[in-house]
Amino acid sequence: MELDRKYEWRQSADGSYTLYSKEYGECYHSLKDGALREALKKHVEPAFELTHKSHLRILDICFGLGFNTLATLYHFSQQNRVRSLEIFSPELDAHLLKTLPNFSYPKLLKPFVPVLSELIEHGKYECSNISIELRVEDAREYVKKVKEIDVVYQDAFSPKKNPRLWTLEYFQDLYAVTSDDMVLTTYSIATPVRLALAQAGFFVYEPLVEGIKKMTIASKKRLPLPPIDMEAKAKRSTSKPLRDKKQ
Ligand SMILES: C[S@@+](CC[C@H](N)C(=O)[O-])C[C@H]1O[C@@H](n2cnc3c(N)ncnc32)[C@H](O)[C@@H]1O
Repeated sequence: MELDRKYEWRQSADGSYTLYSKEYGECYHSLKDGALREALKKHVEPAFELTHKSHLRILDICFGLGFNTLATLYHFSQQNRVRSLEIFSPELDAHLLKTLPNFSYPKLLKPFVPVLSELIEHGKYECSNISIELRVEDAREYVKKVKEIDVVYQDAFSPKKNPRLWTLEYFQDLYAVTSDDMVLTTYSIATPVRLALAQAGFFVYEPLVEGIKKMTIASKKRLPLPPIDMEAKAKRSTSKPLRDKKQ
C-alpha cells in the first residue's frame, strides 16, 4: 500500500527510518536520537530495568509505526527475567496501520514484522507467552478500559501538537489503571507535563542515559533514579500543569 501524502519518509541518526507527519508538523521519532535507539533507550530498556515482575502488562501510547511494541518483542527475546508479556495499544490512524507491513524497519526489528502483520490484520496477536492488542481508538477512551498496567510508554506527539494526551486529567486516568510497581517512560521533559504528572500523584525522575537527549520517568513508588523536586519546581516555575479544555 502507498504511503499517503500526509507523511514523508525521514532517516534518523541511527540509520533507522521514521515518518514526518504533515498533519502534526512533527516526526514520529527524534531524528537526533534515532527511531530505534529512542524506542530502546527511552522506553523499553528502562521499563524492563525498573520493573520487577516476571509478567508485564504494557500500555503503548500510541502505536504509530509500532517501534515501541516491536522493540519490546526484540528486548524480550534477548533476556529471561520477564517470562510473559501483554501489550495494549491504541492508535487513531487506521490508514497508517495498513501501510506498516511495507515499512522499512531496522534489521533488529525485521524478525517481528510477521507479528505486526497479524496484529494489523486481526487487531490481536497471541502465542504461548505474548499477547498483544491493537485498537483503532482514541487513547483517552482506551486508557479507561485497561487495568493493572505495569509499564506505560507515553509516546504521543508533543504536548504542543497533541496536548490532550498530556493533561492532568489524562494522567489521573493513567494513575487509576496502573499497578503500584508501575513505571511511565516518556521523551517529554516539558515542565507543564512534569507538573501534570506530579499533580496526578506520580514521582518524577530524570534519568541520564549517555548519548541520548533527556527524558522523564514517572512512577508510583520511589525509584533509584535522580528525582526532580516537583514541589520546589511548582513554586519556582511560572508554568502550570497542562489541563483538559473545559467543554
Ligand atoms: C509520535 S507518534 C507515535 C510513535 C510510536 N510510538 C512509534 O513507535 O512509532 C504519535 C501517534 O499518535 C497517534 N494519535 C494521535 N492522537 C491520538 C489519539 N487521541 N489516540 C490514539 N492515537 C493518537 C498518531 O496517529 C500517531 O501515530
